[in-house]
Amino acid sequence: MDILQKVLSLCKRRGLVIQSAEIYGGAKSLYDFGHLGFLIKENIKEFWKQSLLFSDESIFFIDGSILLPFPVFKASGHIDCFTDPLVDCKECKIRFRPDKVEKELGELKCPSCGSKNISDPRLFNLMFRTTLGPVDQLEEILTFVLQNSSKSKEEILKDLQEQILKSSVFLRPETAQNIFCQFMNLTKSYPRKLPFGIAQIGRAFRNEITTEKFLFRVAEFEQMELEFFVKSQDENFYFDYWLDKRVTWWKKIINSDSNLRIREYSQNELAHYAKRCCDIEFKFPWGFDEVEGVASRSDYDLLAHARASGKDFFVLESSEQRGGQVKIVPWVIEPSCGLTRAFLAVILDAYSEEPGVDAEGQEKVRTVMKLKPFLAPYKAAVFPLVKNEELIKLSKLIHDELKRRRLYSCVEENQSIGKRYAKHDEIGTPFCITVDFNSLKDESVTVRDRDSTEQVRCHWKEAVDNVVSLCQMPA
Ligand code: GAP
Repeated sequence: MDILQKVLSLCKRRGLVIQSAEIYGGAKSLYDFGHLGFLIKENIKEFWKQSLLFSDESIFFIDGSILLPFPVFKASGHIDCFTDPLVDCKECKIRFRPDKVEKELGELKCPSCGSKNISDPRLFNLMFRTTLGPVDQLEEILTFVLQNSSKSKEEILKDLQEQILKSSVFLRPETAQNIFCQFMNLTKSYPRKLPFGIAQIGRAFRNEITTEKFLFRVAEFEQMELEFFVKSQDENFYFDYWLDKRVTWWKKIINSDSNLRIREYSQNELAHYAKRCCDIEFKFPWGFDEVEGVASRSDYDLLAHARASGKDFFVLESSEQRGGQVKIVPWVIEPSCGLTRAFLAVILDAYSEEPGVDAEGQEKVRTVMKLKPFLAPYKAAVFPLVKNEELIKLSKLIHDELKRRRLYSCVEENQSIGKRYAKHDEIGTPFCITVDFNSLKDESVTVRDRDSTEQVRCHWKEAVDNVVSLCQMPA
């Protein structure tokens, strides 16, 4: 089994991430996060949030709506440009991206049945579309067709498509557009001196055509995006600045620096809004692939919304040359991190199989999730050695102290110590604290380190202090 399959089955077995609607056969590219998966994801999110809130820069947050109307995406270019080319196999009827399949002697071949009877490419928009309000689209379509019955089929289709698009709302394909649209409203309440950033964590949706590789490319995912507004002449400086900061952030959640690298886009790879872009890539089982993009969006978005809405988008900056203040349209540097993809990178990076022994002393593979302690769902698990009232009582006391210190932990009293260790190794609990009969005499406990499996004996209060300090979120 390859590592992706192993991680996928661990996620299911331990309830971290499960395919949505699994009882009905599962929905392709949709996943639900269970308790432990949710906690890991929230820890990554919190680390991102804190890295901006406590940074040297002025950064403000917004929590925008997921549904946005047609004019937003017409202006942003997503209606016209956020498309993938698609072809149909005329034999087996599957639909695929012609640029993602291998060609035979320069000729396109169906990846499923091998036929070369392929349609011309058509552009397929990746946004999900829906309606707002009590609209019965079927009824609308019928009325439209009846009213326009004198036109040709092609004309009706074209006009109808346009009418439907204009009255639709879309699930945002990136969180960024709320920030651009609200720029003038938001900057009324924020300090408006450049540079400053507006950040958002939220869901984005893409009707992706290729959706293999577990959480890597899914239809519904979370992004953590920062739009950092700068003077145009500072573009290069802040591009390098944020790229460097973001790589440093990634190195704090990934164990091995060699699993990360930067890749600069060539001009013909750039998204419609980007002037320059570098990806931060993680070494996935299939090779290095994108986890975050740092892009220069120039003044593309603010100007696009200014043109389309007829509103003025600017900040006031003092000008020595002209004396007084002048209006300028800021440029944007955008570090855009996929939270769902970061979660996948973190668990793949942490997943490890090591030689170990079971409770009977037999050699076996030890599966351990070497999560950075601050990302782990449980920071500690407290084990009474056996089911004994006094041992359980002291275990609960230690657990209460961990709770009081705001460290998420649990007491586990079922199964052998070996099985309890194995479970907590798999879900990444960095410390297991065992309470035994000596603990009742001198209040000492055994603390086992997840990664080294080394055990140390100390007073339980010292154990709690150590766990608290070792699980701190880094600055
Ligand atoms: N606002 C810029 C933007 O959205 P992007 O490169 O299309 O840029 C940014 O997306 C990040 O969002 C990616 O680096 C990736 O981590 C994540 N992402 C994009 N599409 C995704 C998908 N279908 N499933 C999971 N994550 C995705």
